[in-house]
Amino acid sequence: MIAHVDVDGRPEPICGMDQWMPAPARILAVQTENFNTRTFRLQFVDPVLREQFRFAPGQFNMLYAPGVGEAAISISSDPARPGVIDHTIRVVGSVTRAVDAAGPGGLVGLRGPFGKPWPMKQMEGHNLVIVAGGIGLAPLRPVIYSILNERDRYRRVVLLYGCRTPEDRLYAHELEQWEDRGAIQVLVTVDNATAAWTGPVGVVTNLLKRLRVSAQETIVLVCGPKILNRVAAWKFLQLHVPPSRVYVSLERNMNCGFGRCGHCQYDKFFVCRDGPVFCFADIADVFAKEEI
Ligand SMILES: Cc1cc2nc3c(=O)[nH]c(=O)nc-3n(C[C@H](O)[C@H](O)[C@H](O)COP(=O)(O)OP(=O)(O)OC[C@H]3O[C@@H](n4cnc5c(N)ncnc54)[C@H](O)[C@@H]3O)c2cc1C
Ligand code: FES
Repeated sequence: MIAHVDVDGRPEPICGMDQWMPAPARILAVQTENFNTRTFRLQFVDPVLREQFRFAPGQFNMLYAPGVGEAAISISSDPARPGVIDHTIRVVGSVTRAVDAAGPGGLVGLRGPFGKPWPMKQMEGHNLVIVAGGIGLAPLRPVIYSILNERDRYRRVVLLYGCRTPEDRLYAHELEQWEDRGAIQVLVTVDNATAAWTGPVGVVTNLLKRLRVSAQETIVLVCGPKILNRVAAWKFLQLHVPPSRVYVSLERNMNCGFGRCGHCQYDKFFVCRDGPVFCFADIADVFAKEEI
């Protein structure tokens, strides 16, 4: 349980921990999600850190591959299960390749958690529509765990998830479990179907046609590629969901992770400190500019 949080729901930093200094963490297990994405289960080597580390859904760590560098990676595990930290990683470049090569038993470094989380407190008592594209489901998985842990705090919950092919789905087994438990409605669409696929085909925003929720009582969470964030946010506004109830998680190249270097500047914001989760009402004018 998170003992102390700030107004945004962020856990207080661990007393005495240096935010610049990655702490060693061991890779306990690796789960392959698809051809280039794996979920790494990590555990701090230091038992005190292991015990004290807390995060809120939507926060990220700076993950360090020794001798190579760091990358911002969202935490994808259950916040109510301290002791281990999951990171779902698409292996695309030098850091992610080095972490992948380390494999089970390997050592990496972690510093965090950083960033503004999803508005879990505000979401209570509302219908929730969660829209994810591709790897964008990773920072939303802790939201889903938190909802399932305290299901009666929320009203209707719908997950709309889009990916390229059925084989690209993250957490395929869990998607089925979430749906089977009846606690949340899961709608998955793919860009390219295989012969065995019987579900919808097309972009994730097409699934909005199937939605029957009252706009005024709904909070929307979106995380995916830039184009999905943009289109989904606008579509919900057209459905009369107020901008104050639409939240989007953004990505920017990061360096420090906590508002010191300016690397992740997004107009007047630093994505690491003021995001990655933004309320649409706060960023509507910046979001409208294609070039930013
Ligand atoms: C707040 C935040 C949270 C993030 N969470 C996650 C997460 O949970 N999981 C995750 O995997 N990543 C996540 N990222 C993205 C991750 O930080 C970057 O992908 C990072 O650049 C990887 O570092 P690297 O050193 O491996 O790659 P780099 O050496 O930085 O190289 C990345 C290269 O890959 C290219 N590239 C990027 N994406 C793709 C792609 N889809 N296909 C092909 N090429 C690509 C880039 O153009 C670049 O040239 C997050 C980023 C932010 C800001
Ligand atoms: S990464 Fe340094 S200010 Fe955001």
